[in-house]
Amino acid sequence: MKNVLVLNGPNLSQLGAREPEVYGDRNWSQLVEMIEAEAQSLSLEVDIRQTDSEAQLISWLHEAVSASADVVINPAAFTHYSYAVRDACAMVTSAKLRLIEVHISNPHAREAFRHNSVISGVATGVIAGFGFDSYRLALRQLAN
Ligand code: DQA
Repeated sequence: MKNVLVLNGPNLSQLGAREPEVYGDRNWSQLVEMIEAEAQSLSLEVDIRQTDSEAQLISWLHEAVSASADVVINPAAFTHYSYAVRDACAMVTSAKLRLIEVHISNPHAREAFRHNSVISGVATGVIAGFGFDSYRLALRQLAN
C-alpha cells in the first residue's frame, strides 16, 4: 500500500453550497467518498484533509516529508499568492516525493488573478478543470 496525503485548502469544505455553477453540486463528503473509492480500486492508502488555515496546510506538508508520503493538493485560493505554501510544497518535491496540484475548475479560464499559480513551479504536475475527476486523475498518476 502507498501512502498519499490528499490536502485541501480554504472553502473546499463548502462544496455543493459554494458557487455550484463553478464547482458543481456535489458536496465535500461526496468528494471524500469518491476519492476513497478511487484509492481503494488503485490499492492506494489515502488520508484526505481540508483546512481553511495556511499554517495547518503547511504543517501537513511538513508531515508528508517526514512520513515520505506523496501529496495531492488543492491549495484553493492559496494557489495564487501563498509563497509559504509554495515553499512547503518545494520541500516535498525536493525530498523526491511527488506532489500533484489539482483544481476542480480551470483557473486559466476564470478571472485574471487565478491565472498565476505560485505552486505549479514546484509541483511534479498539475491537473485542472475536470471537476472532481481531477483528483481521480491525480491518484491514477500516483498509482503508476
Ligand atoms: C480552486 C480554484 C481556485 O482559484 C479557488 O480559489 C478555489 C478552488 C479549484 O479547485 O478550482 O478555492 O482551487
